[in-house]
Amino acid sequence: MKLLFKNIKELLQVRNEPIKFVSGKDMGVLPTIKHAFLVAENGLISDFGTMDDCPSSSFDTIIDCTGKMLMPTWCDSHTHLVYAGNREAEFVDRINGLTYEEIANNGGGILNSAKVLQDTSEEALYNQSKVRLENIINLGTGAVEIKSGYGLTVEAELKMLRVIKRLKENYPIEIKATLLGAHAIPKEYKDNKDAYLDLVINELMPKVAEENLAEYIDVFCETGYFSVEDTNRILQAGKQYGFIPKIHVNQFTAIGGVQVGVKHNALSVDHLEVIRNIDVEALKTSKTMPVALPGCSYFLSIPYTPARKLINAGLPLALATDYNPGSAPSGNMNFVVSTACIKMKMTPEEAINAATINGAYAMGLQDKLGSITKGKLARLILTKPVNSYGVMPYSFGDNMVEKVFVF
Ligand code: NIG
Ligand code: FE
Repeated sequence: MKLLFKNIKELLQVRNEPIKFVSGKDMGVLPTIKHAFLVAENGLISDFGTMDDCPSSSFDTIIDCTGKMLMPTWCDSHTHLVYAGNREAEFVDRINGLTYEEIANNGGGILNSAKVLQDTSEEALYNQSKVRLENIINLGTGAVEIKSGYGLTVEAELKMLRVIKRLKENYPIEIKATLLGAHAIPKEYKDNKDAYLDLVINELMPKVAEENLAEYIDVFCETGYFSVEDTNRILQAGKQYGFIPKIHVNQFTAIGGVQVGVKHNALSVDHLEVIRNIDVEALKTSKTMPVALPGCSYFLSIPYTPARKLINAGLPLALATDYNPGSAPSGNMNFVVSTACIKMKMTPEEAINAATINGAYAMGLQDKLGSITKGKLARLILTKPVNSYGVMPYSFGDNMVEKVFVF
């Protein structure tokens, strides 16, 4: 199968040399080719350049992209899109004045989602989740990380991870699975958190490893959830199974989550709405990708991750949706990119880098996705006709994606 995209108004995120991620000032640079062509052969990018050099050999399909942009698909490195039901009732409670914390303390929140998921069959969970996955593919996502964490029993966590595995088998996009057993403390363990950690470490982890259900491990390191010591214990235990850490830190309080992540060579530390200078310093010494989740800040009306502070310190930054029923019920990366520009003062170039190559790095996919580079997967977004790529984040809430190619 050989495809030619011709007359592309502008081909975005062109990297002739493979890169791992971009950081600091480099985030403000988005290399492009104007009036371009691209050839995709058997699902891989095999050639691209300006129309002056467009090949004239025979193709199975020729796509005329006059007036449109072509770019790599979004890489969404943090989601919880496998969940049962929704939390629309809590949404209304928040409108009426309750906080996210108050709702959680009243038995709502993550425990609410866990209860519903425990009572949902694997088949029903798969059917609900696949609708969300299909939706985000149509919105331009070509790689996604999905976490467990709404099971909170061995059986229900395995159910979630088996659903993720089935999605992986049935859909063409890259899916990475993360074990988030330590997402909240189940009611039965309220006064005995250590016993729950024992369960996660001694019973859940070995089963997940045996069935090869996850590559990454996550902990909700937060006041009222899991402490730095708990996080350290989980990450240490995960090491013997080869689980790589990608953790929730600094969402509401800064308690040392960044440092414990860096200590365990976390691939990413995510949320970071609250960030201290010592957290920035810790990240500078690491290969850990900071990940911002502006959809969560928007939905919960909490601070946005201070992107400028991180980027101006020379750090990289990735953007992801956090797609989940409680704090970000949207998997729309276009909205995330817009919101990053509007609310976090990221330039369109920075936001697009954060949502493509840096997102790919945050799930170990930087060699396969995240840029227009020969040999990478031809997962592509063709936009509607636009004057310039900045119009995409500018037109917030509008769908500028015309067609998504995921082979
Ligand atoms: O990333 N912070 C922890 N976990 C999710 C939300 C959990 C929920 O409310 O269901 C998050 O925001
Ligand atoms: Fe999350």
